[in-house]
Amino acid sequence: MDTLLDIKRLSKTFGTIKAVDGVDFRVGRGEVLGFLGPNGAGKSTTMRMVAGYLTPSSGRIEVCGFDVASKPVEIRRRLGYLPEGAPAYGDMTPASLLSFVADIRKIKGDDKAHRIGHVAERLELDTVLNQPIETLSKGFKRRVGLATTLLHDPDVLILDEPTDGLDPNQKHQVRTLLSELAKDKAIIISTHILEEVDAICSRAIVIARGKIVADAKPAELLAKSKLHNAVALRMKRDFLEPAKVVLEGMESVAGLRQVDVGESQVHLIVLPKDGANIIDQVRHQVTQGGVALEELFLERGRLDDVFRELTRAA
Ligand SMILES: Nc1ncnc2c1ncn2[C@@H]1O[C@H](COP(=O)(O)OP(=O)(O)OP(=O)(O)O)[C@@H](O)[C@H]1O
Ligand SMILES: [Mg+2]
Repeated sequence: MDTLLDIKRLSKTFGTIKAVDGVDFRVGRGEVLGFLGPNGAGKSTTMRMVAGYLTPSSGRIEVCGFDVASKPVEIRRRLGYLPEGAPAYGDMTPASLLSFVADIRKIKGDDKAHRIGHVAERLELDTVLNQPIETLSKGFKRRVGLATTLLHDPDVLILDEPTDGLDPNQKHQVRTLLSELAKDKAIIISTHILEEVDAICSRAIVIARGKIVADAKPAELLAKSKLHNAVALRMKRDFLEPAKVVLEGMESVAGLRQVDVGESQVHLIVLPKDGANIIDQVRHQVTQGGVALEELFLERGRLDDVFRELTRAA
């Protein structure tokens, strides 16, 4: 793995609060890492330290092999950081802010115009380029923030809730953009939207009370769900009793859950023993038993279940 971000034993204490407590991880080129955790878990504090905005109480951070504490110039060139909330300088327009950020980053001449045009197009800012930022809607403000983060085409992107406040179309657009960018970068996004993790992240870290409680691929997290490989059946109510008799007699079934849908339809969730995939057996047995199925599918699991389990116990 081409490691672009290396975090070692990172901690941050505010008075008596241990906001970040011995966090260790690496992120490689091509990875999109989802950073998850309940409110106050320490996500933003970790991201601020990586960006050099906050000094760690202990531990070490390297970006592209450069130490964040001692090589601020090298870091600034290689890192893009989107803080929580709206961009500062609300009285500027997106055009003037992007121009200002380009100047700070010493992006000049044709390159400057090209880069500003490029990010404005990718984030669909064309219609608002000359409107004061403070008068923009929340979603546009977020996209202006993202545009400034991407302007110098950094290797490492640290994005604190990048899709917060975006409408569903824009969320989709930003996720697509991040997936494209991920090919030659390392990206960390914090989010409270669990389906976002499934949609774009190659890996997820769950943090609770300042400590990492899981570091896995989204599919591996899903596999921890109680509903992983559960078989969902939908049938007319008349078939409920015969279906139950068949399923309760199956060796591979650990349990059944019934969910009523309207007057005439019923869902049965069949929980397998040891998380095994028993969909073919279930289909075979219930149809043999004379049950007509309206629908049958395999549950992948629910990330929100897993998230609750992981963050409750920590
Ligand atoms: N500057 C500060 N001074 C004192 N305490 C702070 C400071 N910044 C953060 N904290 C505390 O550190 C802990 C972690 O906060 P942080 O903002 O990192 O959480 P988070 O995971 O980003 O939460 P959220 O999901 O709500 O954004 C919280 O208890 C918070 O109150
Ligand atoms: Mg936060």
